[in-house]
Amino acid sequence: HIHDNSQEASFYVANEIAELIRQRQKQGKNVVLGLATGSTPTKMYDFLVKFHKEEGLSFKNVITFNLDEYYPMEPDSIHSYVRFMNEHLFDHIDIKKSNVHIPDGTLDKEDVREFCEAYEKKIKEAGGIDIQVLGIGRTGHVGFNEPGSSINSKTRMVRLDRVTRLDAASDFFGLENVPSKAITMGVGTIMSAKRIVLMAWGEGKSDIIRQAVEGEIRESVPATFLQHHNNCDFILDHAAASSL
Ligand code: GLP
Repeated sequence: HIHDNSQEASFYVANEIAELIRQRQKQGKNVVLGLATGSTPTKMYDFLVKFHKEEGLSFKNVITFNLDEYYPMEPDSIHSYVRFMNEHLFDHIDIKKSNVHIPDGTLDKEDVREFCEAYEKKIKEAGGIDIQVLGIGRTGHVGFNEPGSSINSKTRMVRLDRVTRLDAASDFFGLENVPSKAITMGVGTIMSAKRIVLMAWGEGKSDIIRQAVEGEIRESVPATFLQHHNNCDFILDHAAASSL
């Protein structure tokens, strides 16, 4: 879906999510959302907050699982994805805190594997992800599934690609401050979602979008695996779509 600008595109995605939430509310059922961080989804979150404040959209039946978190990372750090999600969404809506799940960057190393297995189990017990929101990194990563991630990978600790760390360097005031690891849902976890919406804006994303949509499916560009999903849309502005 190619939109005139990221504002309209973000509205489109927020609207789809809001519709599903309302529909499930009528049925007395929950909605499970897979959520992403980064600059790309912020406008979409702004719209969800607006729908809550101005139209009374409730998030009481919403369960969320975030894709990833840097490791190690304290939740109150300005770089943490916990803080990001609170600031952009959770602090402004009526979601139950117990329904929010974000990979834990404070774990001891030896506890990470168990945490990741439990994360997968919680997603399954919640009924699976109804809509997975994604951005895309310059390396073609989704979540923090860097080149080399297998299609069946599950939630785990990963080493970040140098390109990804370079892209994050200005936020962290220098490459040396960017963590070298992260905990991320796997490609397999993402592929199990019933629906996937990947958003991308700006010319800087146009080359990786072309590779993801039109390129050969391969581990060196993990986003190409999405071509195998039967309900995945790329939501783009004109600039991100300019190389297609
Ligand atoms: C980080 C996140 C990804 C995100 C990517 C792109 O690496 N872990 O989930 O998609 O950044 O970020 P941005 O949306 O700021 O371009």
